[in-house]
Amino acid sequence: VIRRGRSGEGGERGEGVAAALGEVVEPLTGRSLGELGLVDAALSGDAAEAAVVVRVALPSEHYPLADQLRASVAGAAERAGAAGVEVELRVLGAEEQMEVASRLRAIADPEPSADHARGVGAAPPSQRPNPFARPGSKTRVIGVTSGKGGVGKSSVTVNLAVAMARLGKRVAILDADVYGFSVPAMLGLELGPVPIGDLLVPPVAHGVRCISMGFFADDDQPVVWRGPMLHKALEQFLVDTFWGDPDVLVVDMPPGTGDVALSMAQYMPKSEVYVVTTPQPAAARVAQRSGLMARQLKLPVRGVIENMSWFTGDDGTRYELFGSGGGQRLAELLGVELLGQIPLERSLREGGDHGRPVVVADPGSEAAQAVVRLAERILELGPSRVWRRELRVR
Ligand SMILES: Nc1ncnc2c1ncn2[C@@H]1O[C@H](COP(=O)(O)OP(=O)(O)OP(=O)(O)O)[C@@H](O)[C@H]1O
Ligand SMILES: [Mg+2]
Repeated sequence: VIRRGRSGEGGERGEGVAAALGEVVEPLTGRSLGELGLVDAALSGDAAEAAVVVRVALPSEHYPLADQLRASVAGAAERAGAAGVEVELRVLGAEEQMEVASRLRAIADPEPSADHARGVGAAPPSQRPNPFARPGSKTRVIGVTSGKGGVGKSSVTVNLAVAMARLGKRVAILDADVYGFSVPAMLGLELGPVPIGDLLVPPVAHGVRCISMGFFADDDQPVVWRGPMLHKALEQFLVDTFWGDPDVLVVDMPPGTGDVALSMAQYMPKSEVYVVTTPQPAAARVAQRSGLMARQLKLPVRGVIENMSWFTGDDGTRYELFGSGGGQRLAELLGVELLGQIPLERSLREGGDHGRPVVVADPGSEAAQAVVRLAERILELGPSRVWRRELRVR
């Protein structure tokens, strides 16, 4: 709601400025200040030379981008004709934050089912709307798994997500690898999520929203506790995070145990699974297990991604450092397509270390192009039509 100044206080200039402020985009949610109800007032002084005073509310006491918002607000006011601008910021109160949170829930889940809608507010997580469980949900949940660690699962997750964002999709990542949260660093995230009312707004990098269990897990916590904890926490993260109605949610799944696959099957019934492996033929067997585990949970395995497939030397020679054929072999074992082969590339590793994914930092590289083709192929596949055996669509 744009509240204008009391009559006589606002003036025409104030009105024009208020309208312009309403259009300013709040960077974390990607929504306008008008939609969020964060513009308090734009008041122009009586004299023509007097500065316009704009009052804008920050959505949270932990809001990290106040300076950025102040600058865009001032810029918008100036472009709307204000000669001088004075920006006054305040923080929304608790009740106002809850109001913004419920607006964000409405944006994120535009058509909650009646059952779902009833649960908004202080209800336990299981009764609040989970946008990914809604039957009409359009979000494709893409689980990335592997048989063993270190095969590049997180690198694939991050680059695939960023590539899809660059292809124009709304994309989010859920870093659910309880044994090694690495997505925030690979994305170059410097901020954690911001609480607004009862909603958590994830940080955004390279156009991708990300929630990592690592934001909440204690580094010193024994790893054995994390799996069970995650299962409990996962539903809450799905329900209480502003995911922004993404086209795609990419999930970095932990290798090995089936905990997370089980949680995904339960809370995100439309999850699809993609298995990452290296070219070693022996690795295919290990990777096959994670595919079969997903299948036992009735999650469709859509394809295989081979990583570290070869290294291309300066003279163009391909060196198959980790052997060859593993991806194809795994695809055959699982009866699915080998969707892509990503070569070894120095800039991919460096990108991971420095938070600049290779598809952004070195888009011309062989690896980046392989990831983009992979993203296109997965989008082309379209959502799985078989969610559950009992719901088979022919
Ligand atoms: N195609 C590639 N070219 C060069 N380096 C790569 C490639 N894929 C992955 N790496 C590097 O290998 C290391 C392991 O990759 P990554 O962390 O993505 O694997 P992971 O399967 O998620 O591992 P973990 O089991 O630890 O979660 C990282 O340093 C990463 O930068
Ligand atoms: Mg990883």
